Amino acid sequence: MSMPSSPEVLRRTGGRRVKAICFDEARIASRVRELGAEITAAYPDGELLVLGLLKGSFIFLSDLVRQIERPLQVDFLAASSYGDSKVSSGTVHLLYDPETQLEGKHILLVEDIIDTGKTLQRLTALLGERRPGSLAICALLDKEISVVPRSELRFVGFRAPAAFLVGYGLDHAENFRHLPFIADLE
Ligand code: IMP
Ligand code: MG
Repeated sequence: MSMPSSPEVLRRTGGRRVKAICFDEARIASRVRELGAEITAAYPDGELLVLGLLKGSFIFLSDLVRQIERPLQVDFLAASSYGDSKVSSGTVHLLYDPETQLEGKHILLVEDIIDTGKTLQRLTALLGERRPGSLAICALLDKEISVVPRSELRFVGFRAPAAFLVGYGLDHAENFRHLPFIADLE
């Protein structure tokens, strides 16, 4: 599954070619196992709420929580900044607020990818107001171009290339989220 224009890839994308497969299934799985171990070791006690940012984190989150060997709860929230564009609009809309009580809990916000860092900045400000016991971010990918403060960014899967990536939850106009690998869209 590492050839970008192999028949298996084209069958999944409907003929749309990808430029490169940046992270294949095995590499993602091995890094997710490491992140799970890091997170397990980082939270000795207290209630841990793993909060997935929809929709992009849905596959990453489901793999990640199964690698965290301690009690935890899962909830989701949704925000959007891109619409159908490949360029961040900078305005972050919060589409859903978790019902779950955050006060006093360790909150681990799970993001698919950090680009400008604006989504992250806005969400950490909003969640911080609910007086969590602690607030940390786990992002699968980080483009490392962010200009905003990222003090809460504690767990990162991979440094991402400066490209538009799809797969393993990441979309372009809602397509390609289901690809089991992460690819640079042509
Ligand atoms: P930021 O606010 O600019 O950091 O953008 C973060 C959000 O934009 C992520 O949660 C993704 O949903 C989306 N995003 C950023 N870069 C990419 C990409 O390369 N592919 C797909 N979605 C992306
Ligand atoms: Mg998106």
